[in-house]
Amino acid sequence: MQALADRLKPLCQQVAAIPLRDCFAADAQRFDKYSLQHQGLFLDYSKNWLHADTMPALCQIARDAKLAEWREQLFSGAKINNTEQRAVLHVALRNPAETVLQVDGQDVMPWVHAELAKMGHFADAVRSGNWRGYSGKRISAIVNIGIGGSDLGPKMVCEALAPFQPAGLQVQFMSNVDGMHVDEILARLDPETTLFIVASKTFTTQETMTNAARARSWFLDSGATDTAIAKHFVAVSTNQSAVVDFGIDPANMFVFWDWVGGRYSLWSAIGLSIMLAIGPTQFAELLAGAHSMDQHFQDAPFEQNMPVILALLGVLYHNGFGAEAHAILPYDHLLRSLPAYLQQADMESNGKTVQRDGTAVTASTGPIIWGATGINGQHAFYQLLHQGSRLIPADFIASIRTHSSSLEQHDIMMSNFFAQTEALMRGRTLDETRASLLAAGESPDMAAHRLAHMVFAGNHPTNSILLDDINPRNLGALIALYEHKIFVQGVIWNLNSYDQWGVELGKQLAKPILQELRDCQPVSAHDASTNGLINRYCQRKPSQHGEAD
Ligand code: F6P
Repeated sequence: MQALADRLKPLCQQVAAIPLRDCFAADAQRFDKYSLQHQGLFLDYSKNWLHADTMPALCQIARDAKLAEWREQLFSGAKINNTEQRAVLHVALRNPAETVLQVDGQDVMPWVHAELAKMGHFADAVRSGNWRGYSGKRISAIVNIGIGGSDLGPKMVCEALAPFQPAGLQVQFMSNVDGMHVDEILARLDPETTLFIVASKTFTTQETMTNAARARSWFLDSGATDTAIAKHFVAVSTNQSAVVDFGIDPANMFVFWDWVGGRYSLWSAIGLSIMLAIGPTQFAELLAGAHSMDQHFQDAPFEQNMPVILALLGVLYHNGFGAEAHAILPYDHLLRSLPAYLQQADMESNGKTVQRDGTAVTASTGPIIWGATGINGQHAFYQLLHQGSRLIPADFIASIRTHSSSLEQHDIMMSNFFAQTEALMRGRTLDETRASLLAAGESPDMAAHRLAHMVFAGNHPTNSILLDDINPRNLGALIALYEHKIFVQGVIWNLNSYDQWGVELGKQLAKPILQELRDCQPVSAHDASTNGLINRYCQRKPSQHGEAD
């Protein structure tokens, strides 16, 4: 394929020539042309740098990258994670039971639904009070111990679906190996009413295993016996022998498979905390919403395909205009962890510099994904979005209906949502700024003095995603939308989006350094900076807790 940037050049010249404000002025149908709906999701992408020819040309790039063929491979269970020789089948986790899907000659769908049924029985037992702690008390706190994909997805979904959780059952997430995080969570818990889920695909992740061991010691130190562990610790993993070695009964283990990537695993048993929080029926709704987006992604023509459109717009800005970052701005407290979740999903998938065959990429890949709830962001970093020198396309995400008891507050927040995308698009010209200053009673001298600082260039591209409601079905569709967007971009950049070798080196180096910190002898085997930092740490750290040397 002709180098991506070259291919995008004429498109970029075309769209850069006419500012968005003029595009809207010239075409009363623009909103209707560049918006679409699927499930309870409405996508308005009209505030993007698009002309009539842009999307067809971008779709041709996708066709030339063989997107349809790769999509077929994804859904049919081909081993597209080539460096690990694995299928990539998070989509199978939300298939209806009657589907048949072969991996290595085995239909995996019966496994998926058997595990869902096992999770469902367990969740029902805990939620109904049939499953009790060792002293006979009801479980009232669930703690998911996991990190990365074994934490961010379940945490984000549990927060988003908090209105669907029963009172009296709290779900918490322990991820950081920082003892402060663990102390803080344990301090709030009663061992007799707490259920720990140790969630780790590999069951070897240092942070998770350290925190799980801490939780087990805390539990036993409270006076519980070893046999009580069975009532308070369950595991989710692909690694049964490690689960048994840790001391968890395999009967209390929920499984998934190597063809589910960590950052795509919330639909599997890794979502056990979600199912405990919202119950099996609502969990099935989450899966159904994702499945509906899977079908849309498979069936809709590229020009009307939400994940394809979002992905191609991202490619236009990243590869055509050099946009380094992409902001995720949810206007809903329930979606506060969506930016962090999407950060891992996208950056761990497409943060690569080699193509599938190991040769160097021919285009820049993987924008920096960042964000926060928009309403707080307005008072923090939006200055740079409006008047900074960088191009940062942004997704604004909100729900039409709110779970809040105050419709008035929702209107206030949504007025900001609409105003911000309008302001980013329209900006404010010199003449408009002068007129508004004078109208506000500013003296002509002062107005002239401030004028340049108060002009907004505008023409900043945004997508607006409006959910009818935040419910399991719509949330499932929203997450799957982004999963497929990431897949499409990976295809355009010719990446294997499903491995993550880049996280390994730091983990390997940490092992001998941990031993050095334990030994606390002067070190010289590293570079001067690392030696200096380790030696300073060892010289100054207390030899025992709370005691300085
Ligand atoms: O180190 C990164 C990573 O491997 C992620 O890809 C993964 O989601 C996370 O660690 C946790 O891994 P595990 O579920 O095996 O504990």
